[in-house]
Amino acid sequence: MKKLYLFLPAILLTFTLNTTMAQEKITKILVLIYSDNGGTYELAKEVAKGIESDQNVRAVIKQTKVSVNPKLKDIPVATVEELPTYDGIAFGSPVYFGNISTGMSEFLSKTTDLWTNHALEGMPATVFMSAGSGAGNELALQSFWNSLAVHGMVLVSNGIRGYENIDKTIPQGNSVLGTTSLVSLKNIARPSESERYLAELQGKNFAKVALALKGTFSKAVTAKETKQLSINNVLKEKNIVLPTLPKSVGNYELFSRSGNLVFINQVSLKDGTILNPGKLGIDVNEAQVQEATKQTMLNIIAILKEAVGGDLDKVKKCVQLVGMFNTTADYTKHADLMNIASNLTVEIFGEKGKHARNTGGAYSLPVGSSVSISAIFEVE
Ligand SMILES: Cc1cc2nc3c(=O)[nH]c(=O)nc-3n(C[C@H](O)[C@H](O)[C@H](O)COP(=O)(O)O)c2cc1C
Repeated sequence: MKKLYLFLPAILLTFTLNTTMAQEKITKILVLIYSDNGGTYELAKEVAKGIESDQNVRAVIKQTKVSVNPKLKDIPVATVEELPTYDGIAFGSPVYFGNISTGMSEFLSKTTDLWTNHALEGMPATVFMSAGSGAGNELALQSFWNSLAVHGMVLVSNGIRGYENIDKTIPQGNSVLGTTSLVSLKNIARPSESERYLAELQGKNFAKVALALKGTFSKAVTAKETKQLSINNVLKEKNIVLPTLPKSVGNYELFSRSGNLVFINQVSLKDGTILNPGKLGIDVNEAQVQEATKQTMLNIIAILKEAVGGDLDKVKKCVQLVGMFNTTADYTKHADLMNIASNLTVEIFGEKGKHARNTGGAYSLPVGSSVSISAIFEVE
C-alpha cells in the first residue's frame, strides 16, 4: 500500500499527460450560426453530424448572439476571442437580401482585432445558409466568403458533392459554395431530406480538410494574442477580484437596461456592510475614502458583469461616471478621489473605459457611505 502512495504522483502525471495528449489529438470545429426561425440551426445540426462522423473530430454548435427565437435561446453564445482556439469554423446564417444576416454580420464586424493579429489566417472555413425562396442565395454565400477571405481563412467549397443522390424533382438549395435550404418553398418540410444530406456531406468533407490542416496554422500565437483581448483575462492578470453581487436594499433593481445602455448606482457595500462609512475629515480620512471608492466601483463592475450575462467583453464603452462624496463644506479635492474609480475603469476596459465624469460633495449619503457612484455603460 505504502509503495502505491509512492507511485501515485507518477501515475497521476501520466494520466494527466495522456488526457492532455488525447485532447490535443481531437480536432475541434466550431459550427457558428445566427438563426431567427431555426432553419440555419437545422442545417447546423446536419453539418455537425457530418463533422462528427470522424471519431477524431468534435463539433461545437454556438450562436453569435442570443436568438430572438425562444426555442434557440439555450444554444451557447460564442465570443470573438474563442475563434482562434478551434481547428476550423463552419459558418451558418440566414440569407438577408442576398447577403449575410445582421446577426452574423454584427459578430464578424467585431473580429477586426483577430484580423489585424492574423489570428484566423490559414484556418479552414466553410459556409451554409438558410434562404427563403433562394433569391440571391449564391450572392449571399459569396458575400460570406468575402469576409472570411479578408481573414485569410482557407475557404472550403462544397463543389457538386452529393448531386447524384439528391431528389431533383423539387428545387434544392444545393450550391457549389455551400449548402442552403429553401424554406419558403412549402410543399415539403425544409430543410428537405436532400438539403440535410448535402449539409451532412459538407460537414464530413470539412472535417477531412480540418484534420489535414490541423497544426499548420499557429494557434499558440493566436491564443496569446487573444488572451490580451479578453476582459476576464485582464482581471486575472491584474489580480482584480470582483466582489459577490451586493443585494438591493430597497425597491430598485441592481441595474436597469434601456436599449444598449446599462445604468448602475452603488455605495461602498462590502460583505453586507458599508466599508469606511462617514464624513471625510471627521469620521474617515482620504485613504479610507479612496478604498471605499475602489470598492464601490468594483461593485458596479460586478453588477455590470451580471448585466452582460457574465461576458465583460460585451461592454462597448463606459459612457459616464458620477461620483458623490460625503465631505465637509470646504473640501475641494473630489476629483482626486474620483480618479480612483476612473483609473480602475480604464485599467480594466482600456480605451473603452474612458468616460465623461461629474463629481460633487454631499452633506450625507445613503446608509452612511462616504461615497456613491452612478455609472452608465454602453453594451452589446
Ligand atoms: C430581412 C430579410 C431579408 C431576407 N432576404 C432574403 C433573400 O434575399 N433571399 C431569400 O431567399 N430569403 C431571404 N429572406 C428569408 C430568410 O433567408 C429565411 O427566412 C431563412 O430561412 C431564415 O433563416 P433562419 O430560419 O435560420 O432564421 C430574408 C429574410 C429577412 C428577415
